[in-house]
Formats: sequence, C-alpha cells, structure tokens
Amino acid sequence: MPDVIVAENLCKSFGSFLAVDNVSFSVPKGAVFGLLGANGAGKSTTIRMLCGLLAPSGGRASVAGFDVAAEPEAVKRNIGYMSQKFSLYEDLTVRENIDFFSGLYGISRANLRTERERVLSMTGLAERSRELARELPGGFRQRLALSCALLHRPRVLFLDEPTAGVDPIARRTFWDIIYDLTSLGSTVLVTTHYLDEAEYCSTVTLMREGRIVATGSPGELKKVHYPGLLLEITCERVERALAVLEGAEGIDNASLFGSRLHAGLEKGASPDTVERLLGAAGITITGIQAIRPSLEDVFIRVVSAGQAGADR
Ligand SMILES: Nc1ncnc2c1ncn2[C@@H]1O[C@H](COP(=O)(O)OP(=O)(O)OP(=O)(O)O)[C@@H](O)[C@H]1O
Ligand SMILES: [Mg+2]
Repeated sequence: MPDVIVAENLCKSFGSFLAVDNVSFSVPKGAVFGLLGANGAGKSTTIRMLCGLLAPSGGRASVAGFDVAAEPEAVKRNIGYMSQKFSLYEDLTVRENIDFFSGLYGISRANLRTERERVLSMTGLAERSRELARELPGGFRQRLALSCALLHRPRVLFLDEPTAGVDPIARRTFWDIIYDLTSLGSTVLVTTHYLDEAEYCSTVTLMREGRIVATGSPGELKKVHYPGLLLEITCERVERALAVLEGAEGIDNASLFGSRLHAGLEKGASPDTVERLLGAAGITITGIQAIRPSLEDVFIRVVSAGQAGADR
C-alpha cells in the first residue's frame, strides 16, 4: 500500500533563509507520525506545505495520493488541519461553531446533523454543545477545534501542537481520541513540545534548523542514541560534575536534569568510569543508578548537542 504522506527533499525558503531544508519522510496508513523540534525548527512550515497551503520552494510531497503543489485543492479535501493558532468563534456555541465550519467544508444540510453528532460524540463534546466557545476550558477548546477539522471525514490529519497549554489529563484524553481515529484508518501527523506525548507516536522525527536530524520509533531512537548504559547521578556540585564528565573518556554525553545528572556511557563503559572521574575531581556521589532513556534524553542529546546525521 502506498504511503499516505510522502515528502521528498522538501524545501522552503523565505528570501535567503532556508526554513525547511531537504526534508524527506513517509508515513504509512494508520500511523501517528510525530514531528519534534525546538521553536523555529521548521515544523509548522513543513505542515503548511503538506496541507497545500504553502508552495514548496523545492522537492515534492504527496498527501493521500495527491501532489501538494499540483493538486492543493484535492489535498485540502482529504485532510483535516488543526493549525498551531486555531481559531474558534468565541461568541458562538460549540454546536454553532461546528455548523459554521461544516459550511466551509461543504457538508450538505442533509448530512449536517449526522456529521455533527458523529464528531461531537467522537471528541466527547456532545454534553457541551450549547456552551459558548469562550467559556470552554482549554482541553475542550482543543477538542472543539479537532471536531471542526474532522467534519468532512478526512483520511489524513495534521495537528500542529494540538495540546499546547493543556493540562496532563486533558492531553491524555486528546491522545485517546487520536488513537480512536487511527484505529478507524486515519493517518495522523502531529507536532508537540511534550516529549511524553512523543512516546505515543509510531515514528518520531526530530528537526533542527530546517533539517531532519533523527528519525525512528521511540524505541529505536533510544537504542541508537543510548547504546550503552544511561546513568542518573546525584552528587554535590552538579555543574562541576557535568563539566568533568562532558567529553571524558567512556562518557558519550552528559546533561543536567534538574538537580540530577544524566550520563550516557559509551558501549562497554561501566558506572565505575563515572565514579572514578568524579572521585578524582573530589566530588562525592550520593546516588548512581542505571535508568532507561526517555525521549527527553534523546531530544537533548540530538537537538541541543547539535549532533547531525539522520539515523536511517
Ligand atoms: N512567512 C514567513 N516568512 C519568513 N520567515 C518565516 C515565515 N514562516 C516561518 N518563518 C521562519 O521559518 C522558521 C521556521 O518556522 P516554523 O514556524 O516552521 O517553526 P516551528 O518548528 O513550527 O516552530 P514552533 O515550535 O515555534 O512552532 C522560523 O525561523 C520562522 O521565523
Ligand atoms: Mg510551529
């Protein structure tokens, strides 16, 4: 089966600035593809090109079988897009917002009721259909924006930071809805700054300065970037300890996590290496244990350490 989203050497320049630089990836049907990266990495620009809203400066992309540059209208008919700064009509109720957007999406009057009830029940908003958008709590606003994006039964969904600023429970609820959608055959491309959410993605792609710097399943990324042990260390003078470990033999990477240190060891190195290095610097270790790397460890290693080179 052909991939639902395909980007091949996609580029976007704004004047002389290259915001998206040779980005290639593909997303199979039913997958949740997570695009991660610091502010300004080029995530929204990539999404806008894939949605047929912004013409690529180079490369090509197709969504649901349609070329984004040649057939942007066909692309738009087949996708749902929740933009980073989505707009709702604040003075309209949930239901009135849905009805307004159904007009934009060309839903016929005959089908409106069915589609409205379908999206409201899918997003758990049926009980709130008479509330004003402006009075909805954050998590429900997000779900209303998603409801609007689902009205025309799109096969592909682009969600640009759909859970920004939403509490953890509401974020979890949102992700349950995303899973319901993919189990029904939708394909989702989502951006997020929440690394716990990235763990839910089938594939995670990290972007830095317009380029893809790592891609794989969360498990693959952890294995590739932490082939040796990852240690969590509590000790005195953590900043000094960090400086000692950075670049030392046997230590692949080290970073601060609050008041603790995480040190990724090179393959074959053991915790003794760390004890020896810190001991020699006169630093007392109060705790040291091997932990499983999180995507936050991977993200920090790849993006802030500036290590380039896609993994596959
Ligand atoms: N229309 C535009 N004109 C000029 N520069 C732009 C335009 N749109 C985006 N950029 C620049 O391109 C870069 C990538 O922006 P983009 O919005 O894609 O980043 P992002 O990864 O979505 O960041 P964030 O996490 O902050 O949403 C930024 O430096 C941004 O300032
Ligand atoms: Mg963005």
